[in-house]
Amino acid sequence: MAATRVSDLHRTALVTGTSTGLGRAFANMLLAESVRVWGTSRETARLAGTAAAHPGTFTPVTLDLRDAAAAVASFRAAEESAGGFDLVVNNAGYGAFGGFATADFADWRAQLEVMLVNTAALAHAALPGMLARGHGALVNISSLAAEFPLPFQPAYNMAKAGLSALSESLMIETRGTGVIVLDVRPGDYRTDFEGSVARLPGADAPGAKRAWAAFARMMRSGPPPDHAAVALRRALLRNRSGTVRTGRFFQAVAGPLLARVAPLALSRRIQARYFGLD
Ligand SMILES: NC(=O)c1ccc[n+]([C@@H]2O[C@H](COP(=O)([O-])OP(=O)(O)OC[C@H]3O[C@@H](n4cnc5c(N)ncnc54)[C@H](OP(=O)(O)O)[C@@H]3O)[C@@H](O)[C@H]2O)c1
Repeated sequence: MAATRVSDLHRTALVTGTSTGLGRAFANMLLAESVRVWGTSRETARLAGTAAAHPGTFTPVTLDLRDAAAAVASFRAAEESAGGFDLVVNNAGYGAFGGFATADFADWRAQLEVMLVNTAALAHAALPGMLARGHGALVNISSLAAEFPLPFQPAYNMAKAGLSALSESLMIETRGTGVIVLDVRPGDYRTDFEGSVARLPGADAPGAKRAWAAFARMMRSGPPPDHAAVALRRALLRNRSGTVRTGRFFQAVAGPLLARVAPLALSRRIQARYFGLD
C-alpha cells in the first residue's frame, strides 16, 4: 500500500540547520507528519520555540559543521538517543560572496569544509545504520547553483556541485539496499540566507554589486520555505532515489531544461546577462 504520511515510512529524522529557513520548514513538515525530529543549530537556544511547540517529539541538538569530528560526535549521540535515524536531511549551509582571487582562500576553504567535506562526513556517519537496517532516506540539500553557478559565490557553487555529485554516486551505490538518496536542488527561497551571507573582499567591486543586486532580488521574491517542504514531503512519499528541483517555475523546470538542451556557452551567456555581467 502506498504511504500517505511520511511517518508510514520514517519514524525518526535528523535535520541539520533547523533554526531558520528551509531547515525549520522541513522539521515542521516532518513533525506535522508525526515523525520524531532531532533538529540542529550551533546555538540550541535558537530552537526553543520549536521545542516548546513540539514537546517530546522535537529534540534540539547542538551541531557545528565547522568541526567535523565534533559534528559527527553530536550526530552519533543523537542517533543513539533516537535508536537510529530513518531519515537524515543535510540542510545546514551559508553563503559567502566576494572575488575569488581577492578574498582570502581560507574563507573559501572554510565554506567547502562546512558545506561539502563535513556535510559528506555526516552522510558517511548516517548511512551505516540505515544500510544495516535495510531502510532509510538520506536527503542532501544542494541548490540550483550546482547547475547554474552564482557569480562571486565560487565555493558555494563548488560545494553544491560536489554535494550533488555525492548524492548521484550514492543513488547508484544504494540501489537494492532499501535506502534512498534524494538530491534536492532548490531555486531561490525567501529565507534568512541572504542576510547571513558572509561578505568577503571583492564584494563591493562594480560587477559584484550588480550580481549581488540580482541575487538579492531573486531571494526576496522567492517562494516561502513551506513550498520547499511540500516538495520534500512529496519526494519522500514517492520513496525512490532521485533529483528534486523545487522553486518558481523558471528555476525548477524551464532553467534546468534549458541547461540540458542548450549549448553550455548559451546558458553561460544568459546567466552572465541576468547578473549584469555581460
Ligand atoms: N534560500 C535559498 O534560496 C536556497 C536555495 C538553494 C539552496 N539552499 C540551501 O538550503 C539550505 C538552507 O538554507 P536557508 O536558505 O534555509 O538558509 P538560512 O535561513 O540562513 O538557514 C541556514 C541554517 O544553517 C545553519 N548553519 C549555518 N552554518 C552552520 C554551521 N557552520 N554548522 C551548522 N549549521 C550551520 C544555521 O543554523 P544556526 O545559525 O542556528 O547554527 C541555519 O539553521 C542551505 O544548504 C542552502 O545552501 C537555499
